[in-house]
Amino acid sequence: MTDVVAKSLLRWYDRHHRELPWRTSPRERAAGRRADPYHVWLSEIMLQQTTVQAVKPYFQSFLRQWPSVVALADAPADDIMKAWAGLGYYSRARNLKKCADIIASEHGGRFPETEPALKALPGIGDYTAAAIAAIAFDRHAAVVDGNIERVISRLEKIEEPVRAVKPRIRALMADLTPANRPGDFAQSMMDLGATICTPKRPACSLCPVNAQCKAFRDGDPDLYPVKPPKRKKPMRRGAAYVAVAPDGAVLLRRRAEKGLLGGMSEVPNSDWTARQDGGLGPQHAPFEAEWVSAGTIVHVFTHFELRLDVYRADVAPDDTVTDGWWTQQRDLAGEALPTVMKKAISAAVDSAFKQR
Ligand code: ADE
Repeated sequence: MTDVVAKSLLRWYDRHHRELPWRTSPRERAAGRRADPYHVWLSEIMLQQTTVQAVKPYFQSFLRQWPSVVALADAPADDIMKAWAGLGYYSRARNLKKCADIIASEHGGRFPETEPALKALPGIGDYTAAAIAAIAFDRHAAVVDGNIERVISRLEKIEEPVRAVKPRIRALMADLTPANRPGDFAQSMMDLGATICTPKRPACSLCPVNAQCKAFRDGDPDLYPVKPPKRKKPMRRGAAYVAVAPDGAVLLRRRAEKGLLGGMSEVPNSDWTARQDGGLGPQHAPFEAEWVSAGTIVHVFTHFELRLDVYRADVAPDDTVTDGWWTQQRDLAGEALPTVMKKAISAAVDSAFKQR
C-alpha cells in the first residue's frame, strides 16, 4: 500500500507540480539535474514562516543580490537583515548568515549532504535537514512539515492531535517515502496538501490517493487532523513613543541583539509586561515632550498578544534626543522594522493626520 501511495503521488506530481523558482522540474530531474542546494536551503528557511506566494519575491531578490552561498557569506549582516524585513522571525536571518559563513569557511562553499551534517549547521533543524537531504541530494529522508502532517493524519485517520503524535507521523512518512525520488515525493506531499488536501474542504474527488485514504473512506476528512483543545494566549502591555521631526522624520533605535526581534529597528518603547496595572503613560517616555495619545494597537506574537499604547510628539532633533537615528517616512520601508513597529508608526501618523 505504501508503494501505491508513492507511485500514485509521483505520477500526479509529474503532471501537476507547482512551478516554483527554487525547484527543478521533473523533466530536468529526469535528465539528471538536481535542485541547487543553496536554492533549496534558502527557500526552506524562508518557507518555515510564510506562504509560497509571499516567499517568491524575497527568494528572487536574495538570489539577485547573492547568487551563491559564498556571496551571502560575504554580505554585511545588516544588508541581509534589511532584505529579510517582512519575513518575520529575525533570528532566522541571523542564522542564515551564520550558516552561510560556516559553509563558506569550513565546507569549501558546498553544503554537506547528510541529515546529521546538515543539522549541525545554525538554523537547520530536523525538518530543514531532511528537506535539503531529500530535495537537493536525493537522500532517503522523512520530510515532515505542516502540510505533510495533515495529509498523513487523513491518510491514516489519526485520532490524536498532531503535536501528540509527531514521532508516529515521522515514522509513517519514512515508510511512505520511496528510495527513488525521495525529494520529489516529499514535494508531492507538500503540493497535495497545498492544492487538494487543504485544511478546509479538501478536494478529495481529485486526489490521486483517495483510494488509500482512511479518513476519506470513513467519510469525514475535514475532521483531521484532530484539533487540540484551545489555550488562550497571555496578554502583555506596553507603550510606544513615536517622535516626529518638523520635516516628518521618525526617531528609531535598535533593539538588543538577543531576544525577540533581536537586532531589528524600533521606535522607543517600554518593556512589554504581563502586569495589567497602569504605569505606561507618557510620563514613561524616553525623554520629555508633548506626548499625545494615538490609540492602542494589537499585535499577536507566537506566545503572547501585545497591546501597545501609542504616543506621538512633534520633536526638534536637538540635544535631548541622543539615542537612535532619524529616518524619513518615505525611507521606512528600507529599515529592518518589524510589523508591530510599522503598526505603531502608522497609528501615530494617521492620528496626527486626523487631528490636523
Ligand atoms: N513548503 C516548504 N518547502 C516547500 C517546497 N519545497 N515546495 C513547496 N512548498 C514548500
